[in-house]
Amino acid sequence: MKSSVILLLCCMSLVAIGEAGPAWAAASKGATLAQNVCSACHGPDGNSLTPSFPKLAGQGQAYIIHSLEDFKSGHRSNPIMYSMAQTLTPAEMDSVARFFSKQKMSPGTANRKFVALGQRIFRGGLPKQGVPACMACHGPAGMGNEPAAYPRLAGQWASYLVAQLQDFAHGKRKSTNHGMMNYIAVRLTPAQMKAVASYLQGLH
Ligand code: HEC
Ligand code: HEC
Repeated sequence: MKSSVILLLCCMSLVAIGEAGPAWAAASKGATLAQNVCSACHGPDGNSLTPSFPKLAGQGQAYIIHSLEDFKSGHRSNPIMYSMAQTLTPAEMDSVARFFSKQKMSPGTANRKFVALGQRIFRGGLPKQGVPACMACHGPAGMGNEPAAYPRLAGQWASYLVAQLQDFAHGKRKSTNHGMMNYIAVRLTPAQMKAVASYLQGLH
């Protein structure tokens, strides 16, 4: 009697695993990778504790995969992430990206004195300087555009955002779609970068 109950339970759990299939396995693989490898810098749930490391929690899955591929190929140059990405297979990139995209990004705060200018740039751009509105691509709430793999900016560390804008402006980071971010960043002054980044850090 006892053994048949155990057998029944075994069969039930096999059916459960069978139904959940590869998605279940991929999800736990992503969580394991995130805990064992990425958490040291990006935090256990993708909310890094210092601005030197970008937050990955709530970032778009397609954009995380795109970034990992760019680091792996060296198209986006960063020595730390270059070596991290070398160890990841496409399936691992997919599952770790899915894990982070499902976490909740911790909110940040904006410096009050930058809000007015930052919001103006984000919503309306700077037509006289040829800068388009950031929200046209990054979304009205700065949440990004998943199908297009455009990154979420809302809640991200301001000093990380400024560093990326500077890298785009100097051509150290080359953006997709014929360098659209290079074209935009080179038209922003350092003060404007700082203002829009501070506004974005506080956007939620
Ligand atoms: C030793 C520290 C360290 C570890 C461990 C690490 N990263 Fe990073 N990661 C960084 C740094 C630094 C950057 C910023 C690079 C830059 O400035 O371009 C970064 C950037 C990224 C970005 C780009 C984010 C964006 O907004 O563009 C992604 C995606 C990423 N890491 C994913 C991962 C994943 C997935 C893992 C685990 C497999 C991982 N990282 C492990 C340090 C680390
Ligand atoms: C025409 C579309 C478009 C517009 C407009 C645009 N962006 Fe972007 N932005 C992108 C794309 C695409 C990327 C990703 C580039 C890549 O990884 O190759 C990006 C990336 C970024 C990043 C890097 C994010 C990260 O996590 O590393 C920052 C910062 C950024 N944009 C800020 C801005 C700001 C500020 C504005 C407005 C002044 C703006 N963007 C306007 C398309 C756009």
